[in-house]
Amino acid sequence: MSQSAILIGPSILTADFLHLGDQLAEAEAAGVDYVHVDIMDGLFVPNISIGLPIVAAVRRATKLPVDVHLMMVDPERYVDAFAAAGADSLTVHVEATRHLYRTIQAIAAAGMTPGVTLNPGTPLLTVEPVLPIVGQVLVMSVNPGFGGQSFIPAALDRIRRLAEMIDATGREIAIQVDGGVNAATIAAVRDAGATKVVVGSALFDGASPVAAGMDRLRAALAG
Ligand code: DX5
Ligand code: ZN
Repeated sequence: MSQSAILIGPSILTADFLHLGDQLAEAEAAGVDYVHVDIMDGLFVPNISIGLPIVAAVRRATKLPVDVHLMMVDPERYVDAFAAAGADSLTVHVEATRHLYRTIQAIAAAGMTPGVTLNPGTPLLTVEPVLPIVGQVLVMSVNPGFGGQSFIPAALDRIRRLAEMIDATGREIAIQVDGGVNAATIAAVRDAGATKVVVGSALFDGASPVAAGMDRLRAALAG
């Protein structure tokens, strides 16, 4: 746990892949709570990122929870493979699978925490049917596909409405927010009800140390 009430997980999308082990060690030392891995297939999103061998390498390199975000069509094809690679949680898009409920069940059966997410243009109610069986809901606050984009302000209202939907279930479900989270936006995201954030370019920016980025986030949260 970091000092902040909200859990912070760096996305390795903008990390230096030539020195990924060092980057992860730096993040761990800076007090991040988990590691977020973005898998993009070039079809569901217009970009290709990384795949199973990197997830397995991240698993070997850190004791932190490994949280995998699948931006991939028909993600049910790879549930067991990501479990074998060492993912602790696996999040799929409602737009990407024809059998969302079955896919979520398969993720749980494979021993991972199931997560569901949705694009900024997808109605929030699409996640409601699986709230009884997920461990986290990820609110996308950018159009998925690239790091370094600007936060979409309408995400804040979606976080608030999702928090109400989750309250109504009586279940403990993490609300994770991904995209454009940085020192300028993190406090509003937390205040809206997020319990976990993904931070990409504000932690792995190719220039400043991860610890400096964490300091900026914590200062913003301390307000
Ligand atoms: C976007 C990814 C995000 C992204 C976050 O498709 O899901 O995890 O890497 O990067 P930033 O924080 O730079 O928006
Ligand atoms: Zn992500």
